[in-house]
Amino acid sequence: MYVSAPETNPRVETVVVVDLGSEHSRLIARNVRESRVYSEVVSPGALLKRLRSSSVKGVIFSAGPGAGEDRSVSSAIELLVSSNTPALWVSCSDSTESLPDGFRFIGSALDTPIGAVADGQDRRFAVQFQPEALSSDSGVDIIRSFLFSVCKCSESWTPAFAIEQSIKDIRERVGSSKALLALSGGVDSSVAAVLVHRAIGDQLTCVFVDTGLQRKGEVEQVLSTIRDTFGVRLVHVDAQERFLRRLDGVSDPEKKRVIIGNEFIRVFDEEAEKLGDVEYLVQGTLYSDVIESSKDAGSAPKVKSHHNVGGLPDVMRLKLIEPFRYLFKDEVRRIGRELGLSDAVINRHPFPGPGLAVRIIGPVTREALSIVREADAIVIEEIKRAGLYDDIWQAFAVLTNTRTVGVVGDERTYSSVVAVRAVHSEDGMTADWVRLPHDLMEVISDRIVNEVPGVSRVVYDITSKPPSTIEWE
Ligand code: XMP
Repeated sequence: MYVSAPETNPRVETVVVVDLGSEHSRLIARNVRESRVYSEVVSPGALLKRLRSSSVKGVIFSAGPGAGEDRSVSSAIELLVSSNTPALWVSCSDSTESLPDGFRFIGSALDTPIGAVADGQDRRFAVQFQPEALSSDSGVDIIRSFLFSVCKCSESWTPAFAIEQSIKDIRERVGSSKALLALSGGVDSSVAAVLVHRAIGDQLTCVFVDTGLQRKGEVEQVLSTIRDTFGVRLVHVDAQERFLRRLDGVSDPEKKRVIIGNEFIRVFDEEAEKLGDVEYLVQGTLYSDVIESSKDAGSAPKVKSHHNVGGLPDVMRLKLIEPFRYLFKDEVRRIGRELGLSDAVINRHPFPGPGLAVRIIGPVTREALSIVREADAIVIEEIKRAGLYDDIWQAFAVLTNTRTVGVVGDERTYSSVVAVRAVHSEDGMTADWVRLPHDLMEVISDRIVNEVPGVSRVVYDITSKPPSTIEWE
């Protein structure tokens, strides 16, 4: 049977952020967590359930336009009054917004980006920020005063604490059963593997499906880090042939994705069968995925449905363990560091599930894979050498399906064009192309045409997202 993880996190002192249609709710929750107080974003409807928990020390209403006049908000506030929980009403707007009953402004400073700070009765406060002031020192100070002076929180939410708590939870849930994890080599699944292994040791088996679509050196790195360094039980399935055969002659990007997703499930399923009586599946689902796909997110806009390794739990009927269900990506990174994973793993650029297959325009062949893999390795190596790797969200090479004329010595050539892409992004939803230094672009281009056979031209992608996507397919 499919059982999802519990929705509340009862063990930690929590300050709840109630999303009232503001796009800043998540940022507020992050600000709270950066002050080492645990925070969750909930809808007004879910507040009651949360307030029943004694671990809730305070509530921050994150108000969107007109929230003060919204009738559904008043019942949330009544609840709050009856439970005598301290509250901070935060609206982020350039124009003055009205407040609901029970809150009042008592002063304003029109010449500062924080338009009005107010003190209310019964530990209820309201503040209006200009949007950019929310993350400023004064914005953070206001949130901190609320957390520590009003709610009397302690700074308990640290990576070490999160690990300890998570280990306890996992041990309690899993008992003596077995768990399985699909290791991709990405940050989330690597950190999950090490964390869950710490909790239940060899009751966890990781399955690493080698699709043949990984970046250069990635397979070796995953094996040496997770298996050799951390001693995690790991099954390495060499499925390269299977994937190549299935992808033979397929050019359409969505078909490639479906084929890879299905084949992945088939391989993974076979391995699970071999292991027998596995009860749990570990997934690296992040809090941002939960907020995005949950109705609980109230009126925050749904931006994208996330694409994990398609539908595993439904197929396998395993119970889910999602140790990062309450965590943001940067918190997972911090936990990974605390667990001893290297920066090479932690700071690694994101990589799509279907791998290099969606970085080859046209059919996936051995030759195409070799070109794009080598070109990609050069891009990454040079960007690292220039000290820019950690400032960039993603950088990579794409093998286009265009061939152009070149000249080598006296010979005319007619070979492939490789495109280089590098983007800045916060979360992959939007992205801006990186203004790489020209000298660096020159080195990358020279090396690719000289070192990668079959490439005679390199171009740089100067489009942002939107209208382009980050990947070419
Ligand atoms: P796009 O190309 O949609 O990419 O702008 C946004 C982010 O998602 C990654 N991406 C994928 N990840 N499976 C994944 O797991 C996919 O099919 C997939 N397509 C894109 C992409 O690398 C970028 O970080």
